[in-house]
Amino acid sequence: MNAVSQLHPDSREGALRAWWMPFTHNRYFKAAPRLIASAKGTYFTLADGRRVFDCLSGLWCSPLGHSHPRIVEAVKAQLDTLDYAPSFQMGHEPAFRLATRIVELAGRPEDRVFFTNSGSEAVDTALKIAVAYHRARGDASRTRIIGRERGYHGVGMGGISVGGMVANRKMFAPLMIPGVDHLPHTWNPAEMAYSRGQPSWGAHLADELERLVALHDASTIAAVIVEPMSGSGGVLVPPRGYLDRLREICTKHGILLIFDEVITGFGRLGTPFGADFFGVKPDLTTFAKAVNNATVPLGGVIARDDIYQAFMTGPAHMIEFFHGYTYSAHPLAIAAAHATLDVMAEEKLIARAAELSPVLEQAVHSLKGEPHVTDIRNIGLAAAIELAPIAGQPGLRAIRVFEKALDDGFMLRFSGEMIAIAPPFVSSAADVAAIVEGIRRALRAVPV
Ligand SMILES: Cc1ncc(COP(=O)(O)O)c(C=O)c1O
Repeated sequence: MNAVSQLHPDSREGALRAWWMPFTHNRYFKAAPRLIASAKGTYFTLADGRRVFDCLSGLWCSPLGHSHPRIVEAVKAQLDTLDYAPSFQMGHEPAFRLATRIVELAGRPEDRVFFTNSGSEAVDTALKIAVAYHRARGDASRTRIIGRERGYHGVGMGGISVGGMVANRKMFAPLMIPGVDHLPHTWNPAEMAYSRGQPSWGAHLADELERLVALHDASTIAAVIVEPMSGSGGVLVPPRGYLDRLREICTKHGILLIFDEVITGFGRLGTPFGADFFGVKPDLTTFAKAVNNATVPLGGVIARDDIYQAFMTGPAHMIEFFHGYTYSAHPLAIAAAHATLDVMAEEKLIARAAELSPVLEQAVHSLKGEPHVTDIRNIGLAAAIELAPIAGQPGLRAIRVFEKALDDGFMLRFSGEMIAIAPPFVSSAADVAAIVEGIRRALRAVPV
């Protein structure tokens, strides 16, 4: 019997019983809980008092570190002023102002923002906008959406349908939206293992879109959705020229291109959005996470102005888009976003992420040759280390590395056979070096 199968499901009855935790091995966790008590700056403090470095900026979402005084102050002040405001048929000024700031930061000042509360909601919203846009223009047969293998677009029914992670999909097939197809993913270790930044091989994989267009006919396809850099899939970096080619093919066939920038939005690649880094313009952009440092849930979709305009028909007193959330543009989330964007601008933190990127690249690639390592990928302030699986126990290797590193003071992210890091933008070069040395010690401590 191995360590995992010995665990009894109810080994921790009582205090931890009721919460069915998300994306968590509940039995394993409850047998040896890892509880976070507080956070400040780039550190979490665990319930046993140990401080651990937050190597993934929360879940890619807290680039300014935790409990940033400016954000805390802004949210507290907002609570005293307006705790909640309905966004249906009413509005509050800071939300309009935030939408303007976001389109300006994105370099698309003429465009529009639809607010949601999460990345998953942002994705489902973008898919609905895409399909409804074509219909509003009299092109109602364009309903098909093309996603990509290994893509992660959250856990809504739309998001899992276009997503490409088998574990997130296989149980739910009957609930998924029909009429979805997938591009192949772009990771090919034989061609691109240990690439630094964008691999030079693989642009031709975008031509698979032409094949799907030939198969389904462009007249049936509403949109293509991809993450410019697939974060949850394990920092899968687009090959040079790949996204440009997708853009060309979409434009040629009247297909909308959706960039899911829930991870890459607001600076992770050292530019405001991934679109800026890669120099490719999408039609719709989803965002969440770093927009307000994850202090209060917030997400959204940026839509090209003419997409918005396509909905603006019929009598002006009628609702144009039957979609929205009770908490869309929640005042606390909006206040946190203004404070986050203020701090990002004043402290030039997106440029800081860009400066740290080569430091991270240099450091993380020094792990080549360490035990278990089979590939290392990086772009911007993000990196992933692919590990050789333990025979017969998929996923356990990365868990072991995670546990060793946590004991050593570094909270990494593990998923499948992969370890990911995306340090806060406020990290120092010494922090980045320390994270990588922590990973090195953890790799060496895990038996071959
Ligand atoms: C690209 C992408 N899209 C969507 C989501 C889902 O966001 P959320 O967990 O806020 O629903 C994520 C989350 O990691 C993501 O990385």
